[in-house]
Amino acid sequence: MNEEILKALNKQLNQELQNAYLYLSMAAFFDERSLTGFSHYFKVQAKEELGHAMKFYEYIVDRGGAVELYDVPAPSKKWSSIMDAIREFYDAEVSNTKRIWELVNIARKHEDKATEAFLQWFINEQVEEEKNASELLAKVKLIGDNVAAILTLDRALAERK
Ligand code: FEO
Repeated sequence: MNEEILKALNKQLNQELQNAYLYLSMAAFFDERSLTGFSHYFKVQAKEELGHAMKFYEYIVDRGGAVELYDVPAPSKKWSSIMDAIREFYDAEVSNTKRIWELVNIARKHEDKATEAFLQWFINEQVEEEKNASELLAKVKLIGDNVAAILTLDRALAERK
């Protein structure tokens, strides 16, 4: 596999791990506030990100490349409010979409059809990821400081599969 593509794939593998770490940190943030539905939602999200990282891992191995794991920086966990945390969730997903699209451009530049086809799953997944994050952000904005509504949303988020 082309060196630039391999490097970009490894970078994205590590980015997915970083996102898993970020969402696990959000889960802990909500657990500390006894919002166990929010926490559950982000534990599921963290597992999804690990799954994404593993897709990159397996693809790199399948193409005969070497997997490289970087240091994962500690996420902040210093959100000032529920909305502040959820906004970071949304921003992280928008940034991730940009990275995936950039990866597609790199694959195209080198005419690597296999990598382009592999990335198609992630293009579709990011549509879903951004939709979920933006819907959650909209709900959190809507309910503001209404405690009853926050607890109702917390119960709904506990149902995430
Ligand atoms: Fe791996 Fe949330 O994108």
